[in-house]
Amino acid sequence: MTFNPLEQRGIPLDRQIRNWRELNVDQVDPNHSDPYTRCRIITMNGIEVEAVMFSHHFARVCPDMDVKRRLAEVRYVEQQQQKAVNWLLPGVSSVLETVISYEQVATDLTAWVARMEPDPYLKQAYQFGVLEDFDHLYRYANLYEMIEHRKAEKIVDQLTEIIPGRPTKYHHRHPADNVRDPYDRQQASPLSKLHALTIMSAEQQTMNYYMNVGPQYMEPIARQLYQEIALVEEEHVTHYESLMDPGETWWERLVNHEYNECYLYYSFMEQESDPKVKAVWELHLNMELEHLHIACDLMRRYDGREPEEILAPQLPNVMTFEPNKEYIRELLATQLDLTTLGAGYVREAHERFERMQEQIHGGEEPPSERVIDEHREMFGREYRLSTEGEHPDMSLRERV
Ligand SMILES: [Fe+2]
Ligand SMILES: [Fe+2]
Ligand SMILES: [Fe+2]
Repeated sequence: MTFNPLEQRGIPLDRQIRNWRELNVDQVDPNHSDPYTRCRIITMNGIEVEAVMFSHHFARVCPDMDVKRRLAEVRYVEQQQQKAVNWLLPGVSSVLETVISYEQVATDLTAWVARMEPDPYLKQAYQFGVLEDFDHLYRYANLYEMIEHRKAEKIVDQLTEIIPGRPTKYHHRHPADNVRDPYDRQQASPLSKLHALTIMSAEQQTMNYYMNVGPQYMEPIARQLYQEIALVEEEHVTHYESLMDPGETWWERLVNHEYNECYLYYSFMEQESDPKVKAVWELHLNMELEHLHIACDLMRRYDGREPEEILAPQLPNVMTFEPNKEYIRELLATQLDLTTLGAGYVREAHERFERMQEQIHGGEEPPSERVIDEHREMFGREYRLSTEGEHPDMSLRERV
């Protein structure tokens, strides 16, 4: 690919503010749209939320009034972008339907990143995490049939399988074991930095979403399942954010954020099947090119460095939503029984893991197990969506 965002100029910043009519985007139709269009919307919403929150955190430690004002100007546009993107989601979808799409994002985005990641330690972090969100999808799909009497295949459309992953009850590790070693900002490939930022942003949005929507249910099992999975998303944010080098300067981080937004909007524009949504990706790409330009100017001025020193000369291969069924099946067969110890991975349940398990479960079955039991009582079976043979046996159950 020859697209180099550093060489393009976008829309001038003072022409980026949209009026109410322009912000009033058309919702996608949940019954006739590509599930991956919804996944792209959910991903870009998470990316824009991160853009906004990162800019706020930067502003809070920034003593320079000119920079503070510049950040506020760009951040206002990022906020409008977040509104335009998230408001593409269909209002008729229930929260649980959107949640099922969130876990489909976590599954197929993380699996794609794991496949493409050049650094073996980072690759392992994504392979480890994907088997957990994959299991969340299965738990929520069972809840969905129980409380809304519908099947999750209507939402994920056979693009993503729904079968047990690493059982959610084993995701509750001691918090200290969720901290990974960071990449080295001087050595890591620019692509690795984009991957870490993207997956961290997606998980952070998922964490925030469950924190807020979890109590909006009457059914006790739904309320409890959201609490449990929301706590796992806290672990995932800790896991992925710790991959990033804390030695990156604020200017460097700002440039990486804007470059990543260019990369993702460009990627999604290339593959979008819905013309109205595609137009949003294209418009936002042209806004981000200018944000990137501004971030690069700030870096040159305040950090005394050239952005080319930290960025890829061209955009890497476009990030793609596509089925990863075989890849996930392979991970299920080889990595199901992993847990973490310190910054690494082990196959046996160690003492600190056992202690945490005792504390959090209090000797009872957690909501993620009870949702399956209650589903079986109600329907005489559990909900699964398998597009091929049988699932490898869940050896973790026997071992831990
Ligand atoms: Fe943005
Ligand atoms: Fe999840
Ligand atoms: Fe997650």
